[in-house]
Amino acid sequence: MSKFVISGPQKLQGEITVAGAKNAGLKAIPAAFLMNGKVELRNMPQIQDVEVMLQIAQELGAQVVKQGDQVSIDTSGVKSSHISSALSGKARTSIMLVGPLLLRGGEVTIGHPGGCAIGRRPIDQFLEGFRAFGIAVKDEGDQYRFRADKLRAATYFFPFVSVTATETLMMTATLIPGTTVLKNSACEPEVQALANYLNQCGAKISGAGTSTISIEGVQKLAPMEYAMIPDRLETGMFAILAAATGSDLMIKRANPEHVESLLAIFEHMGVKYERGQDWLRVIGTDTTRYRSPGKVITHEYPGLATDLQPPLTVLLTQIPGTTLVHETIFEGRLFYIDLLNRMGANIILCDPHRALVQGPTPLRGKNIESPDIRAGIAVVIAALIAQGETVIDNIYQIERGFERLEERLKAIGATVGYVN
Ligand code: EPU
Repeated sequence: MSKFVISGPQKLQGEITVAGAKNAGLKAIPAAFLMNGKVELRNMPQIQDVEVMLQIAQELGAQVVKQGDQVSIDTSGVKSSHISSALSGKARTSIMLVGPLLLRGGEVTIGHPGGCAIGRRPIDQFLEGFRAFGIAVKDEGDQYRFRADKLRAATYFFPFVSVTATETLMMTATLIPGTTVLKNSACEPEVQALANYLNQCGAKISGAGTSTISIEGVQKLAPMEYAMIPDRLETGMFAILAAATGSDLMIKRANPEHVESLLAIFEHMGVKYERGQDWLRVIGTDTTRYRSPGKVITHEYPGLATDLQPPLTVLLTQIPGTTLVHETIFEGRLFYIDLLNRMGANIILCDPHRALVQGPTPLRGKNIESPDIRAGIAVVIAALIAQGETVIDNIYQIERGFERLEERLKAIGATVGYVN
């Protein structure tokens, strides 16, 4: 397993450019299966999770051509509708292909979808929504079988706000005759970006970005070019990195509007920043001069993204006072704090959703295994603050979501060793 070796503490400086959004790019691949022909994807993040989804596309018979951040997917030769568990187990977004494949006709079989180990990752709302569309769902133990005899538009209320379930049902409804209404939908920018793209291709989606989305089914979609929006989670992570290491960083090709919940927390903490339409500059300082925000609560968009909670918690370990971190989305997204405590943090896990962070505490380098993308990046930030050497193992988990991280960190002055 590849490792990062980071000796801290380190101060960084310069410009860093945000990649295309992982959580937009991953959905662009199933969206291509709604159309017959070649779709050009631009500003695609070059990461492992996208790689897995492209492998699935190829397994299904699509022609995939990659050149840097540009990917073309030609679905005209797609014959198969079976997604092997070897690949579905590596990506939760594999389930998003079911709707588009069923709309091409016949049956779809898929192994259990995988994903980050951040708590239960049920797919009940996908299945319930599919059934509402008239799709027969059979759990065969090692795989699911889906059959669509007669598809019908539906009204579906999501019991829990879910980003990928919203996007999945929205995509599927674009080609089902009649009007589908999705209530309690996710409002994340990636949902809006997908809806805008599908509308360019001829879909009739309204309300994306609000909690009620209406989709009037059309007969077909025309393949069009799709450019990914900037990754708001990378933007937020780089902003936190600057604040935590007391660095002055210019984050380019960003959309600060998408991280306003984090910027509001920065205001409370006294972290200085400047923003423009497509850039964000964070001017970090000695972290003991920041104030604790008292509590931070993760929430669906436009609230604080759960994915920014682990890096933000690292910053909180360096600030005077006690902060309550309340993780409301996933019940497994606080267990990494044990890793931070091993590095010297003083965090009490109150229950699976709440932790009390007492700061400031000096951090020390340790040997750490990266548990998932966002906890992994939290450990990278902790390592850059910590005194001494940190070896971060299993960085596959970080590379799943971050493109050329080591190279990009080096460009802003970080010393990061890479051991294969
Ligand atoms: N949920 C259900 N049933 C379902 C689906 C979800 O109960 O059928 C629950 C989940 O258990 C969770 C909540 O709904 O408690 C929210 O989960 P959601 O479905 O929104 O998560 P997701 O769509 O699988 C996406 C992102 C995640 C991000 C979450 C929350 C993608 C590919 N992934 O996941 O990103 O944390 O939304 O914003 O879009 C990451 O980028 O590292 C990552 C994990």
